[in-house]
Amino acid sequence: MTKMTPGNGASFLLLFFPMLYSLTNSAPTNQVATYWTRGEMGYLYIDKLVNQSEALAECLRIYKGRLLTILNVAQDDAISDMIVDLGISHDIITSGKINYVSHPFPEWEWSTTATLFPYRNWSPSSPDFENHCCFKGVQASNFYRWRSLDCDTVGVFICEM
Ligand SMILES: *[C@@H]1O[C@H](CO)[C@@H](O)[C@H](O)[C@H]1NC(C)=O
Repeated sequence: MTKMTPGNGASFLLLFFPMLYSLTNSAPTNQVATYWTRGEMGYLYIDKLVNQSEALAECLRIYKGRLLTILNVAQDDAISDMIVDLGISHDIITSGKINYVSHPFPEWEWSTTATLFPYRNWSPSSPDFENHCCFKGVQASNFYRWRSLDCDTVGVFICEM
C-alpha cells in the first residue's frame, strides 16, 4: 500500500478491496475504503454502515487494523481534518464504550486497548449513561465533538493501520 502525506485535500488514495467482492453479491461500488495519513498514522475510512461490534471485527479481521481509538487532542484534530477532506457526513463509530464490569463504577473505556479515556471531547449533551457507545460527530457547528449513542446504532467507521 502506497502512503501519501496529506497537505492538500486531494492527497489521499481511493482503494477498492477485491477480497470484499467475494463476501457480497452487491455491486463493487458498495464497498469503498479510503486511506488517509497524518504523520506516522494511517487511517482507513470505510463507507459502510455497521454497529460497533461489527466495526471492531471488520477492522481486525478484514483490514488488519484497529477500530478508531482517540487518545489525544492531536489525533482527534486529525480525524476532524479527515472528516473535512473526505466529506464524511455520517457519525463515525469509535472503539469507546462504557465498561460496566471491570471497575467499581461504570467507566468510558477504549475497548481496543482496555484503557480508560485519557482525553475526552464530548458534545454538550453527551455523555449520558443511557447510551453506551462513543461516536465521533461530523458536525462542524458542533466542532466535531463526540456523541454517546446506543450501541446498536450504525455508523461508518475508521480503522487505524
Ligand atoms: C450488531 O449487528 C449484528 C449483525 O447485524 C447483530 O448480530 C448484533 O446483535 C448487533 N449488535 C448490537 C449491539 O446491536
